[in-house]
Amino acid sequence: MKTLKKCTGLLIVIIAAGVMAISQVNAQNLDVPYVPTPHDVVAAMLDVTDTGPGDYVIDLGSGDGRIVIAAAERGAYGHGMDLNPVRVREAEENARSAGVDDRVIFLEGDLFDADISKANVITMYLLTSVNLRLKPVLLETLRPGTRVVSHSFSMGDWEADEHLVVDSRHIYYWIIPADVKGRWEWRTGGESFTMDANQEYQKITLNLNSGNNSLRVGEPLLKGDRISFSALNTRNGKRYLFSGTVEGNTITGTAQVRSGNSRHVENWSATVRRR
Ligand SMILES: C[S@@+](CC[C@H](N)C(=O)[O-])C[C@H]1O[C@@H](n2cnc3c(N)ncnc32)[C@H](O)[C@@H]1O
Repeated sequence: MKTLKKCTGLLIVIIAAGVMAISQVNAQNLDVPYVPTPHDVVAAMLDVTDTGPGDYVIDLGSGDGRIVIAAAERGAYGHGMDLNPVRVREAEENARSAGVDDRVIFLEGDLFDADISKANVITMYLLTSVNLRLKPVLLETLRPGTRVVSHSFSMGDWEADEHLVVDSRHIYYWIIPADVKGRWEWRTGGESFTMDANQEYQKITLNLNSGNNSLRVGEPLLKGDRISFSALNTRNGKRYLFSGTVEGNTITGTAQVRSGNSRHVENWSATVRRR
């Protein structure tokens, strides 16, 4: 009996040492040390992304889980991912205490291996160097319109859609833009349009022609999968307001047309030839 007790005790010590060793190995692999985001900054991050019911939030490097937990308290679902198993256990405990453990989960793993494609809100408190490694993954994996918010660290040449400072902390907010590069063609109200779109992240420049006439484009805007712009035919004074939704190689939307005293609304549907 004594021998059995000794063996069990030894086994527990060996298992505990193994778990600690794994934790240490993982802790050494961390790309970012653990520093929690202050709660008022968490609130501002969720405000700027307008997080609430219907959203799925992923916090990359979730620490004690506070961002995902606060999102769940606003009605969202979500999960956090952290390489450090100690943080994952802590986050699970905090979710239980907050009464939201049925809405959130915490996974142990490397954020670079995470499948983030189903999120519509991504939160991060990492480092600029880590953000820069993540940038192509975010742009390629996330659906247009997905909101991304980062505490303290920017994304290099990808300018934020919004930048705020809360309690001396910087918060950067981006909306994943649709890919609109290429030559778009459509017919509206008996006119043929050709539009060459260039793009740098969410910033677009558009060259628009109606038949042989070059139109003057104003207010070009790409916000997630929504695109809008005005156009003026300087030869005849005809004005257009185009707005639409980009879905793959198609834009469908509504065009307001004003010519002299005539005003009307038409549908437009454009397709792209990618260069
Ligand atoms: C600065 S803390 C932010 C914690 C939390 N998101 C917050 O804002 O309060 C960064 C977290 O990322 C985790 N981390 C670092 N490198 C990671 C990696 N490669 N994969 C997953 N998590 C990582 C750390 O363990 C730490 O908990």
